[in-house]
Amino acid sequence: MLVSAKEMLQKAKAGHYAVGQFNINNLEWTKCILQTAQECNSPVILGVSEGAGKYMTGFKTVVGMVKGMLEEMNITVPVAIHLDHGSYEGCMKCIEAGFSSIMFDGSHYPIEENVAKTKELVAICAEKGMSLEAEVGAIGGEEDGVIGKGECADPNECKAIADLGVDMLAAGIGNIHGKYPANWAGLSFETLDAIQQLTGEMPLVLHGGTGIPADMIKKAIDLGVAKINVNTECQLSFAAATREYIEAGKDQQGKGYDPRKLLAPGCEAIKATVKEKMELFGSINKA
Ligand code: 13P
Repeated sequence: MLVSAKEMLQKAKAGHYAVGQFNINNLEWTKCILQTAQECNSPVILGVSEGAGKYMTGFKTVVGMVKGMLEEMNITVPVAIHLDHGSYEGCMKCIEAGFSSIMFDGSHYPIEENVAKTKELVAICAEKGMSLEAEVGAIGGEEDGVIGKGECADPNECKAIADLGVDMLAAGIGNIHGKYPANWAGLSFETLDAIQQLTGEMPLVLHGGTGIPADMIKKAIDLGVAKINVNTECQLSFAAATREYIEAGKDQQGKGYDPRKLLAPGCEAIKATVKEKMELFGSINKA
């Protein structure tokens, strides 16, 4: 069932669990995530970055593929198709293509410009029945061994953006996309607590879900996080399982080179990762 992320996140925030956003890259990714969500009776958000959208030939292809799968696979759990870290132009394209949710990442603009652009998108999304995620405080770069701590958002700026009527708010709390460096300082719960105190019911979003220890995830949920984004971890488990298959020479046995066989271990690995996260986030049986 294709829905916006609004209601599932309000329920998650009230119920003290989080819904996973799992980024998709292709048909296999999408199918595996949907299968797992249905098996776990969990709501799910399919994240699509602008790059992944382009890779899949465009946002319309993504919408067509997901809608087709929801029908052919009899998916009854709530599913949102969500633009991840969208530019203003990217948001417009996804609105047109039929996404049910978008993220406008205006964190690199001065706060006034972030507010103005977010405000415009709030009005459009309300009219279309779509949900909107905004971001304050940029979330650190990938695999940068030098950065020990991601940026922390200003709680007052978070309040200013939350008050515009967005449905979910991503705020930097020391989190980073990709693998965390060995010297990572951890999440700033002090920042998260301050943001949550000012923004109240607003579902908060934790980006960079890969590699955050389970106890930190639990604490973040306790402090108001209702959506957690995971991307790299599925890529790593897919790659490891595929490597194992090839290194064992299985692609050279029988018809092991058939992509439906060759990609099968990677697919199983994605499913296991997604299930593990859904268990940790507490979204199982919350559909
Ligand atoms: P990871 O790749 O670190 O899991 O981050 C995902 C994310 O936050 C997408 O917006």
